Amino acid sequence: MQEQEYTYLKHKILKLTGVDLACYKSEQMQRRLQAYLLRSGFPTWFALFRAIQNDPEAIGHLRDYLTINVSYFFRDPEKYKCLQGSILPELARGRLSLRVWSAGCSRGHEPYSLAILLNEVVGAYRPHQIIATDIDRSALEWAQAGGPYSAEEVAAVPAPWLERYFSAQEDGYWATRSLRRRITFCEHNLLAKSFVLPESGAGGYDLIVCRNVVIYFTNEGKDQLYQHLYDALRPGGVLFVGGTEIISKAHEIGLEAIEMSFYRRPLPQLKSPRTGPSGIR
Ligand SMILES: C[S@@+](CC[C@H](N)C(=O)[O-])C[C@H]1O[C@@H](n2cnc3c(N)ncnc32)[C@H](O)[C@@H]1O
Repeated sequence: MQEQEYTYLKHKILKLTGVDLACYKSEQMQRRLQAYLLRSGFPTWFALFRAIQNDPEAIGHLRDYLTINVSYFFRDPEKYKCLQGSILPELARGRLSLRVWSAGCSRGHEPYSLAILLNEVVGAYRPHQIIATDIDRSALEWAQAGGPYSAEEVAAVPAPWLERYFSAQEDGYWATRSLRRRITFCEHNLLAKSFVLPESGAGGYDLIVCRNVVIYFTNEGKDQLYQHLYDALRPGGVLFVGGTEIISKAHEIGLEAIEMSFYRRPLPQLKSPRTGPSGIR
């Protein structure tokens, strides 16, 4: 694709969908765009834009396509075991409830997995707050409805939990009403020029889960996002990222790596008592 054409597409797509392609890796994005045009049957982008410009559904479809939303329940089970065995119990020590944000939640697999773990590990009757956000409106609608999810998508859900938290219907698995009520879903762009934090109450989030979202972001986009996520954590709070994602500027941002895929915003250092020139306090 010519540079000029990509510049035109970035401009047009930002205007139509609100997605800023400048924050996504251009090579991968150009390949996706080319495939989209081919599949659409329109001879040119100009013709495609003219056809969809007053059609919110078609515009939504283009936005959803650009922001890919494949997901599974308990994606990377080993990491969820770590969350269950050490991270959550540690975060919950001395707290009645936890504040959790699933950033880039797709069709709900991730926040439902987190809600199940909070129920099972920390306590079902505690007033946990789980916020789940995504840029993709149709994925959020799916998530909010609680399904349907395929057998493949729920494959990593342990059998007793599958029975407790889902109902099996002809069209797939549906999250139970009580599980759905645990989560607040809302639309949110992690790359928005003016980053607005989803409501976290005072003090920030205990846990932010942002996994498999940044794969197509540019390095600048990633750095900027991780800085925002650091700011959104409470001191001592944990950021959980994708299995293959490494925060290269973690140290600069102020995050400390605690396990593969888990980073912590450290607690403020206690000031040591002043010592005089002779070392006598
Ligand atoms: C591959 S899914 C990951 C879902 C889940 N976090 C997981 O790990 O399975 C990526 C999600 O990121 C969302 N996404 C992409 N760009 C985004 C942005 N700028 N703001 C918010 N969400 C975004 C997509 O809509 C998609 O639902």
